[in-house]
Amino acid sequence: MSDKKKILTGLQPTGSITLGNYIGAIKQVVKYQEMYDSYIFIADLHAITIPQDPVQLKENIRSLLNIYVACGIDPNKNKIFVQSDNEYHCNISWLLECNTYYGELSRMTQFKDKSKKNQNFTSGLLTYPVLMAADILTYDVDYVPVGGDQKQHVELARDIAERFNNKFGETFKMSEPLISKEGTKIMDLQDPTKKMSKSAENKKGVILLLDDVEVIRKKIMSATTDSEMSVKYDPENKPGISNLLNIYISLTGKTIEEAEEQFAGSNYGEFKKEVANVVIKEVSKIQAKYNELVQTNAIEEILNNGRDYVVPIAKQKYELMKQKMGLGR
Ligand code: TYM
Repeated sequence: MSDKKKILTGLQPTGSITLGNYIGAIKQVVKYQEMYDSYIFIADLHAITIPQDPVQLKENIRSLLNIYVACGIDPNKNKIFVQSDNEYHCNISWLLECNTYYGELSRMTQFKDKSKKNQNFTSGLLTYPVLMAADILTYDVDYVPVGGDQKQHVELARDIAERFNNKFGETFKMSEPLISKEGTKIMDLQDPTKKMSKSAENKKGVILLLDDVEVIRKKIMSATTDSEMSVKYDPENKPGISNLLNIYISLTGKTIEEAEEQFAGSNYGEFKKEVANVVIKEVSKIQAKYNELVQTNAIEEILNNGRDYVVPIAKQKYELMKQKMGLGR
């Protein structure tokens, strides 16, 4: 057993992932995979909280795995698996659900937003954060690399863990969200007051990792800015420019101050051109690797290895919970 700290994260396989997903979650895993014992999975059970076409979903699951590897997630350093391959997540989720209050779930910001958009939402949309808590608590992880939009859900997992531990005795580790300062929320390029999201109606504001590079250039060149002429970080008054600066520093490793200094005196066109170059350089590498991977069948072995590693761990946690709760014979 390794004594390294553990990290875990997951992404929903709902179409090509965005630059926001990449910067908020995947890039962090790539950064930390050397240092931590690292788990990353494909959250297909979370995807079905809203209706999915089965054929498309299957394709998206396989594509996301290739995206993970193309982005630099190393199958030798990570446990990579499909959530639904490990049936214990649902079992554990049910036991946790019975220790979670309706009030807590109905107060989650994401639930409030998504349920407002559709009157006919499923109960899975409400209980989604409990399944996420099960994903996290099953493996006793120390940190959960996520974007800022998932912070509330990771905090709820801590509340659920604490309640369970108090009621039934020490069972779960308390995990913390791991959120990079600059990547916390990459915003929509057309409406920089909203987060960049796959589900946005206007796709012009959303960069997908598998977008054609010339389309990416156009999207960045037509990003909303402001009527001033200074490349300065000020999210409140200059959300468009601040968002582009965040993207730029997330991909170059520079600080905000270094970037501001670099672009002092540049006009917005010159600045955007450089942001586009940096994004395209990063995305082109990912796309080249992705196109190679789709020709191979490497994913089968990776996912089998991941499943074989995680299922026994989850079984053990489930049995422990059952025993503590007095379930079974
Ligand atoms: P999902 O699929 O919506 O998003 C995947 C990851 O991308 C981050 N993210 C962003 N980060 C910065 N800027 C953005 N615009 C942006 N948009 C998305 C999200 O914060 C997330 O880290 N419920 C999760 C998946 C999940 C999970 C888990 C995550 C299921 N179980 C356990 C961590 C641990 C979700 O729907 O993420």
